[in-house]
Amino acid sequence: MEALDVQHLKKVYDGMTAVDDISFSVHEGEFFGFLGPNGAGKTTTIGAAVGLVNPTSGTVSVFGHDVVKDYRKTRALIGLSPQEFNVDMFRHAWETLINNAGYFGVQRAVARERAERLLKRFGLWEHRFKRFQSLSGGMKRRVLLARALIHQPKLLILDEPTAGVDVELRHWLWKELKTIQKQGTTILLTTHYLEEAEQLCERVAMITHGKIALIENTADLIKRYGGHKKLEEIYLQITGSDTTEDGNAPAV
Ligand SMILES: Nc1ncnc2c1ncn2[C@@H]1O[C@H](COP(=O)(O)OP(=O)(O)O)[C@@H](O)[C@H]1O
Ligand SMILES: [Mg+2]
Repeated sequence: MEALDVQHLKKVYDGMTAVDDISFSVHEGEFFGFLGPNGAGKTTTIGAAVGLVNPTSGTVSVFGHDVVKDYRKTRALIGLSPQEFNVDMFRHAWETLINNAGYFGVQRAVARERAERLLKRFGLWEHRFKRFQSLSGGMKRRVLLARALIHQPKLLILDEPTAGVDVELRHWLWKELKTIQKQGTTILLTTHYLEEAEQLCERVAMITHGKIALIENTADLIKRYGGHKKLEEIYLQITGSDTTEDGNAPAV
């Protein structure tokens, strides 16, 4: 059974097609990279997986359960670290974690114990009673990751979890994410750091203009391109992302 199975997913916003009939699946236990330039449709696809985006057509299922028909069940199987900070800015990390655990029906005593463990592991324990808005960018990202893990999801979805995070923290996160995968969690990651995808992802999908350009085992892909190229060079070749989605040169 696939951890995530997307079949002919299409999403149209006011006549604009954001996701155009894509199909792919993420195998149980794997670390899967979902790559593409800004505006390609990655966050929309993730939204469909967590039930935040209503598909125009097509289906998404999580461990065999349809996301639309079985929303509560599928949502509980997923831990999401979203691209945007969708957190109450005045709430502190402790409360954010405990509330989220409650939302997924985790017993209060269990939630407290897990929250303590996660906050300590992520270096947030001393900051647990600070307002979200007062935390650094790197701490905010770690709170989102801890929140995503509090109900022990089988599928962890990370939408640009290392955006704006310094190199040291990024490398620390890579190690943590590898450990989380080893402990049995399936991971879907979107990132603009191709080195990150190369280090972590066993398979990658590349998406442009709402369509999948490629899905392949990362090592095989690099081998197919002669073995000496970095994933970033291959990515640029495949996605043609020397320009942005609207055809303009990227802003510097
Ligand atoms: N709620 C929305 N309403 C209208 N257009 C949207 C909405 N969300 C995303 N889009 C558009 O859909 C396209 C895909 O966006 P998104 O899924 O966020 O891409 P990515 O995550 O790959 O950057 C973009 O053109 C974006 O402007
Ligand atoms: Mg996005």
